[in-house]
Amino acid sequence: LTAVAGGLAAPALLSLSRADTGRPLLPAPASAGTPVTHEVTLEAKPRAVKLLGDDGPASTLWTYNDELYPILRLKRGDRLRATLKNGLAEHTSIHWHGVRVPNAMDGVQYVTQPPVEPGRSFLYDFTLPDTGTFFFHPHCNESGQVGHGLVGVLIVEGDESRPFDHELVLVAKDWRLDSAGGFLPFSTDSGAARAGTFGTLRTVNGQRKFTAKVPASADIRLRLLNLDATRMMDVGVEGADARIIAVDGNPLPALHLDSWRVGAASRVDLVLRTPKAGNKVLLRDYFPAEIFDLAELEAEGPDRQSGAFDPAPLYASDIPEPDLRAAEPQAYVFGAASDSIASFIDTLDPNDPLSKIILDELCTAERTFWAINKRSWPNDGHRNLPPPLARLQAGRSYRFMLQNATPHPHPIHLHGHTFKVLSSSKRSLPVHHADTVLVLPKERIEIAFVATPGRWMFHCHILEHLETGMMGYFANT
Ligand code: C2O
Ligand code: CU
Repeated sequence: LTAVAGGLAAPALLSLSRADTGRPLLPAPASAGTPVTHEVTLEAKPRAVKLLGDDGPASTLWTYNDELYPILRLKRGDRLRATLKNGLAEHTSIHWHGVRVPNAMDGVQYVTQPPVEPGRSFLYDFTLPDTGTFFFHPHCNESGQVGHGLVGVLIVEGDESRPFDHELVLVAKDWRLDSAGGFLPFSTDSGAARAGTFGTLRTVNGQRKFTAKVPASADIRLRLLNLDATRMMDVGVEGADARIIAVDGNPLPALHLDSWRVGAASRVDLVLRTPKAGNKVLLRDYFPAEIFDLAELEAEGPDRQSGAFDPAPLYASDIPEPDLRAAEPQAYVFGAASDSIASFIDTLDPNDPLSKIILDELCTAERTFWAINKRSWPNDGHRNLPPPLARLQAGRSYRFMLQNATPHPHPIHLHGHTFKVLSSSKRSLPVHHADTVLVLPKERIEIAFVATPGRWMFHCHILEHLETGMMGYFANT
């Protein structure tokens, strides 16, 4: 790593002291107080925002309630009654990503509800069963609607056994903009058939360079959400001692980690001890060729903590424990729709004009590049549902082997369940809970969970991949 200029305390990645295996989580308290019902309206509509700077052109984003990434904050056990009003010119819906909602509230058009047509509304009404950092997004024209900015944050509080001194919510999302502020195509054939189409502008909380003042010598919580359509990050901290306390909202005991890969749709919560006033902490993405700073935090004011850094453990979430011995094993292979086309596409160079013509020819005929167990989600799949990948039995435990048979990473998401990530064939991952798991090229990841009733989508969260075949669903009874 290269040194960072000025005012930075000793660099420390998320390297945790070798002696620390993480303090065990505390059992979730039976009740988090009297549940509250929150009535909210989320109106999806266009809105002009200057993403390219105050003197740059405005871009017409689509947002909820005229807010870029509105944050809904509730407590575990609270009830959310959210009315979606569609002020767009196309149909939409809201999927509550990672939240264990009843199936009818899952927000997948044609699968769990009718699409919400322009000018119409839909009421989502459910109780929040788990604490954590979640988000919500449409499940229609995902690359287009999320690409225009239609995402929001859902925070369910109640996991802190002792409150931290400060908290920041950081939404990382790229934008596909031309220099006049207009949107470039959200999906391209050469991107969709490979690792996805990347944005032209990286932002955190809508800013090109996110900076904030934070209290000095304080234990602060960062809730980092990767809400990009495509990007995978490798996140670490410099200038402070830091630990990972939750993945996809699920608390975990801090473990020995240098950095954490955060695929599209994943979230990671960190706690770090800020330095003395005047010093800086960097939250960095080490994945790209050139390191990207997600946040630059400057400590100010009097010290908040004097003892050694030893953040209080979170309360565990209350996820049904899969019975691994009785679990039914199943295997899911994420691959190309056709092996021959995929390996041929990988020999083409998108920058070479001749290759580009061949790619266009190949791809525009039928935009299906991907498959799960050799089955591709059809282009009209929502309207004319294909058969499910499997019918799982509610209440039964399953062990899934997820195998990536492609040269690109795929963040795999299962709706309506929080699963346990048991092992990877390539990396030493701690056993942890998640709703989206990154499966690297040629990697095998084993997950386990207890099935719940309903039709639940199962797909790659690179939005162009799910739109070009890498999606299916389970029909559970
Ligand atoms: Cu956030 Cu179907 O996903
Ligand atoms: Cu994918």
